[in-house]
Amino acid sequence: MPGYAVIGGQWGDEGKGKIIDYLAGRVDAVVRYGGGSNAGHTVVNDKGTFQLHMVPSGICWPGVAGIIGNGVVVDADVLLGELSELDARGIDTSNLFVSERAHLIMPYHVLLDELEEKARGDSAIGTTGRGVGPAYVDKTGRMGIRVGDLLDVESTLRPRLEQALAFKNALITKIYEAEALSIQDILDKCADWAARLAPHIQATEQTIQDLLAQDKAVLLEGAQGTLLDIDHGSYPYVTSSSPSVGGACIGLGIPPQAIAGVVGVFKAYSTRVGGGPMPSEIFGETAEGLRETAHEYGTTTGRPRRIGWFDAVAAKYSRLVNGMTGLVLTRLDILDGFPSVKVCVGYQVDGQRIDRFPSNTSLLAQCQPIYEEHPGWSQPTASATSLSQLPENAMSYVNRIEELVGCPVQIISTGPNREETIEVSRVIP
Ligand code: IMP
Repeated sequence: MPGYAVIGGQWGDEGKGKIIDYLAGRVDAVVRYGGGSNAGHTVVNDKGTFQLHMVPSGICWPGVAGIIGNGVVVDADVLLGELSELDARGIDTSNLFVSERAHLIMPYHVLLDELEEKARGDSAIGTTGRGVGPAYVDKTGRMGIRVGDLLDVESTLRPRLEQALAFKNALITKIYEAEALSIQDILDKCADWAARLAPHIQATEQTIQDLLAQDKAVLLEGAQGTLLDIDHGSYPYVTSSSPSVGGACIGLGIPPQAIAGVVGVFKAYSTRVGGGPMPSEIFGETAEGLRETAHEYGTTTGRPRRIGWFDAVAAKYSRLVNGMTGLVLTRLDILDGFPSVKVCVGYQVDGQRIDRFPSNTSLLAQCQPIYEEHPGWSQPTASATSLSQLPENAMSYVNRIEELVGCPVQIISTGPNREETIEVSRVIP
C-alpha cells in the first residue's frame, strides 16, 4: 500500500509545494491531511505560478486526483476562489474532492482568531488570522460544522449552527464587546457553498483506501511544519493541527502501515513566521540580505519571515518524531556567495550543553546556539540538476547535514522551477 508522506521538518514554508508538484507526476493522488488556508504552497511549472492555500499542490498534473482529507479545516470561500482561478487558467479541477468529515472554517472562527490574538497582547502567537485555531477548538469541543452538514440543512446544519452561534455570539459580544453575527447571513453563505461544493464532496477515506488497495501511489501533502505541531512543536507558539506524520493517519483515515516513505523537507537555513523561540535566529545585515535575496515573506500574510541558520538539533528531533526515511533540502542556491555558512549543532543554557529539542518553551527561549562554521562557495548552485554540478563546499555542507540529522538527502532543490531539482535517489520508486 504505497503512501508517501512529504512533511515539513521546520517551522513551515520549507518549499513543500514545489517538491509535491515535482513528485506528483508519479502518483495517482495528492492528499492534504491537516491545516487549512493558513498554508501557502507555491508551485511554479510550465503552466505558470500558483499560490495554493487549500487545493493540494499536485493539481497541475492531469489525471492526478487532489483530495482534501477529514483532518483539514476548510475555508470554503478560499477553496472555491482557488478552484475558479484554476479553471480560468485551464487547469482541470473535476478531480478535486473534499471529505464530508472535514470541518468548516466559519465566519465566527475568523473573527474570533482576530479578537483572541488582540486579547493576547504581548504574548500573541502571530497567527495567520485565517480562523484555523478556533475551527480546531470547535472540532475537538464537538461544536464544529462539517462539510457534509452543508448537504443536510434542516436536520443537521441549521440546528448545529443555531447552537454554535448562540455560544459564539455570547463570547463575541460579552467577552470581546464586538458585534454579533447574523445566522441568516451564515446560512445564506452555507447555501452558496453547498451548491458549488456538492460535486466535490465525498467520503474521501474510502476513496483513498480504494486507491491504496489497488496499489496506486498516493502522496500525503504535509502543511506547516513539525516544529509547529500542536503536540510536538514549540507550544503554545504552534498551529492547532498535527503537521507531523501521525496527523496523516488521523487526517485521512489510513493505517500507519500504508505509509511506505516519509520525506522531511528542510530549507538549507531556517525561517519562522509569527512568535515563539527560534534558537538559531540571526539578525542584522546577514538576515536582512538573505530575506531580500530569498524573498522570505509569508505567502499567506505577506509578513517578513524571521531568518536563522540550519538548526540540526531541531532537525534531528523532527526526523525522530516523523521516522523520516529521507530528506529534501530546498533553497540551497540562496546560500550561494556567502563567505561561510553556519549550522547549529547544539544548544547552551547557563553553561550546560543541550543536545535535544526541549519541550519547555521558556527553556527553548534561553537556548544559545552552538555553531559549526563551514566555508561558503562562490560558484553558483542555482539551477543545478546533478550532484556533479555542486561546488565542493556546497557538497560538504549537504553531507554534514545528512550526518547531523541522521538521514540521507534524496532531493536538493536549486530554484523554484520544477526542473531546478537534483534527485539524488528516488523518493517514489
Ligand atoms: P495559525 O495556524 O494561523 O493559527 O498560526 C499559528 C502559528 O503557525 C503562527 O506562528 C503562524 O505564523 C504559523 N503558521 C501557520 N501556518 C503556517 C504556514 O503555512 N507556514 C508558516 N507558518 C505558519
